[in-house]
Formats: sequence, structure tokens, C-alpha cells
Amino acid sequence: MKQACGVIFDLDGVLTDTAELHYQSWLRLAEELGISFDRQRNEALRGISRGESLKIVLGERAVKYGADEQAAMAEKKNRHYQELVDRMTQADMLPGALDLLRGLRTAGVRVAVASSSRNAKRVVDHLNIRDLLDAVIDGTDTERSKPDPTLFLMAAAAIDVPPRRCIVVEDAESGVDAGLAAGMTVVGLGPRSRVGRAHRVCESLTELTAARLVQMIDRGRTPP
Ligand code: BG6
Ligand code: MG
Repeated sequence: MKQACGVIFDLDGVLTDTAELHYQSWLRLAEELGISFDRQRNEALRGISRGESLKIVLGERAVKYGADEQAAMAEKKNRHYQELVDRMTQADMLPGALDLLRGLRTAGVRVAVASSSRNAKRVVDHLNIRDLLDAVIDGTDTERSKPDPTLFLMAAAAIDVPPRRCIVVEDAESGVDAGLAAGMTVVGLGPRSRVGRAHRVCESLTELTAARLVQMIDRGRTPP
């Protein structure tokens, strides 16, 4: 009998461009605090947890604020973010994402989302893709964020596929490292400077098909 295989997608910046919405919300918070913030500084936040991202946004000013104040700021940023998320629809999927999810379903590949975000389930519902996913594991299921492998290992367990038969698709350096630490094959989405440690690097999901991903799992990893 053919062995099961699984594909585990990161969400933000892979299935949908929430990276832009996170940027808009951090920018709004930074403006409210009178702090300068731009897209270049935002790049450092890709895949980084909300609390850690706030420290990066605050920079040297972080020491001026106590834990309660920082928690309130992070909460405020999250309200800004959720306002934007609540306007999302399936049209906000990144190119190739919906076709790939449908192709994986047809091919009988088990599919999960594993995201550090505590908003991932909300985003998935707005994208209306629940029926194309077998599991959604996010920051509400564990406090360990990437590069810790826990989210990916939980996703593999949820879809009942051993890690060595799973492929991770990631756009963040911390996520690529988490996938490697989980013992999975990793496809990096984006520039080599960011995701170059992955086994394969792609510019866009349009370069991937269900058949190609299954082949990668069956043949074993292509060296980076
Ligand atoms: C990651 C994003 O997926 O989730 C980060 O790449 C974000 O930008 C992190 O900070 C946590 O998300 P949230 O929605 O819980 O603030
Ligand atoms: Mg991401």
C-alpha cells in the first residue's frame, strides 16, 4: 500500500499575503507611538511572534515600557490587524495557492496549516479554505513559536503522517529552520537570502504542483 504523505503550509506570506496586513498594523501602532517604521524594518518581523516583533518595532525604546504596557501595545496592534483580517476574502489567496490546495485534495495528500499566529484560524475562515485542510495548528495550540519545531510536529501528528513523509512550505527564515528541525523536507518561498537553507527554493506557489511535491517526498530530499 502506498505510504501517506503530507504537506504542511505556513499561512502568513505563503497561502495569503497577511505579511502586508501585519506591516500595515505595526505601522499604524508605530505612528501612534511616534516611532519611525518602514517596510525594510518590517522584513525582520516575518515569522516572528507578536511579542518579539513589538520589541523589534520599539527598538531601543523597549526598555522604557514595562511588561503590562508592552502587552497593551501588542493587543492594540492585534486589534488593528484583526480589522484588516475581517475584510479578507478568498480573493486574497496568493497566486497558485487555491489550485495547489485543490490539487493536493484530488491527489489524496493530507494537508495542514501550521502558523505561529494566534489569528490563523480566523484568517483560514475568511479565506474559506477549511474544507481543503485536514488540520490547522496555530499559536493558540502551543506557545512555542518557530524556529521551534513543535507547530510542525503537532501538524504532522494531527494529519497522522510521519515527519519524514511531510513537506513544509515556508516564507520565513525562522519557519525554514523549524521545518528542518522537525526532520521534514522544506520548500522555501522567496529570495535565497531569506529561505536559502530550504531543500528547494521557489519564487511562487505557481511553480509547485501536487504531483511534484509527492515526487519530492517519494524520491527523498534534493540537497539544498
Ligand atoms: C507569523 C507572522 O505567522 O505570526 C508574524 O509571520 C506574526 O508576522 C506572527 O507576528 C504572530 O501572529 P499574530 O497574529 O498572533 O500576532
Ligand atoms: Mg510566514
